[in-house]
Amino acid sequence: MARAGANRSGLIIRTARVYSGLFMLAFVTAHLLNLSLGVFSGDAMNKAKPFLTGIWSNPVMGSLLLTALVVHFLIGLWAIYRRPTLRTNPQDLVQLLSGICVVPLLATHVVGVMSLKLNGIPFDYAIALKFFWVDRPEIGLLQVILLSVVWIHGCAGLITWLRSKSDMRNVLGWLYPLAVAVPVMALTGYAEVGRQVLIEVQSQAAPSGYYETEPAASTSIPQPARTEPIRLPYEQVKRITNGIIWWSIALAALTLIAREVRVRVQSSQVVVIRRGNAPALASTSQLSVLDSFRAHHQPHASLCEGRGRCGTCAVRVTGFEYPLPEPTALEIKTLRRIGATEDMRLACQLTPAGGHLSVEPVYPADFTFEESEHAHPIPPPDMKQAQT
Ligand code: FES
Repeated sequence: MARAGANRSGLIIRTARVYSGLFMLAFVTAHLLNLSLGVFSGDAMNKAKPFLTGIWSNPVMGSLLLTALVVHFLIGLWAIYRRPTLRTNPQDLVQLLSGICVVPLLATHVVGVMSLKLNGIPFDYAIALKFFWVDRPEIGLLQVILLSVVWIHGCAGLITWLRSKSDMRNVLGWLYPLAVAVPVMALTGYAEVGRQVLIEVQSQAAPSGYYETEPAASTSIPQPARTEPIRLPYEQVKRITNGIIWWSIALAALTLIAREVRVRVQSSQVVVIRRGNAPALASTSQLSVLDSFRAHHQPHASLCEGRGRCGTCAVRVTGFEYPLPEPTALEIKTLRRIGATEDMRLACQLTPAGGHLSVEPVYPADFTFEESEHAHPIPPPDMKQAQT
């Protein structure tokens, strides 16, 4: 009963993580595409705004976005807390670190735009670009860093998610070039339109502090008609975003400390794992078989980075000393999907309680679905469950 509850909550958490991430990635993609139009002109950016960035600015989408941000961040922290080890491969590490940075960085953007709305200040690119390029270039730079980090995190997550699905291997072929092209186009558009802004400001000797001045006429970036100077609630935005940034950092630090305490307090048994003909490696009952391989730098296929979805970490258990824990619903589902036999388990989900364990990898360490027509494991030479 308790196990069924844990399985259900695990499924809910995984689903919430995937869909909140996809939602935010859609938001960032729309922004990047809108920015990329700066290559043509600021006018083109403003014309496309209602269809790309504008759709996110209504209260419903704004609330959903904030919810997705908070949910994704909290689930990410929970996953860090649950991690048996922080030692991992470079891609997973990049995703982990960029995930911690996403909320503090995205907060400045979301709070800034929401603050404009709440103060009745219309958002348009003429305002934003002058602010980012003339008045507060350091915040403009922060936006560039923000986009890069969020994009890297989103693409790493999306690629890991898709890689775990054998029927998505065709999608990955065009996703890789897009993952590079979209931010490059966006940064080019941002730089080009920024160059125009600087030329216009210099040619008109416009004073800085755009928000306190009458906007000058522009040839490439249409200026909204205003009679009153715009006063940006800059200090208010700064105060709120600073608070979010410090709270995010504090939560991330607390999570790491709590994880460290949990790992130290939890009792553990020695586990000795023999993998094929490789020398036996010493591990503990706190680590999954996959984490034990990683801790000993033994390459092992794991396309979904240990999330129990791809099945490529499957091992054939050829011997064990202590009874093995029962597979979770997620593990059973994935094993069924890949057509695994009775003697197979997922290395990322199997955490032995102690003693000796012998396994054989089912897939080669560099396995990818792109290289395989079928996502089925190599046919086992011996279908019987081995036991020592
Ligand atoms: S790494 Fe994907 S299921 Fe284990």
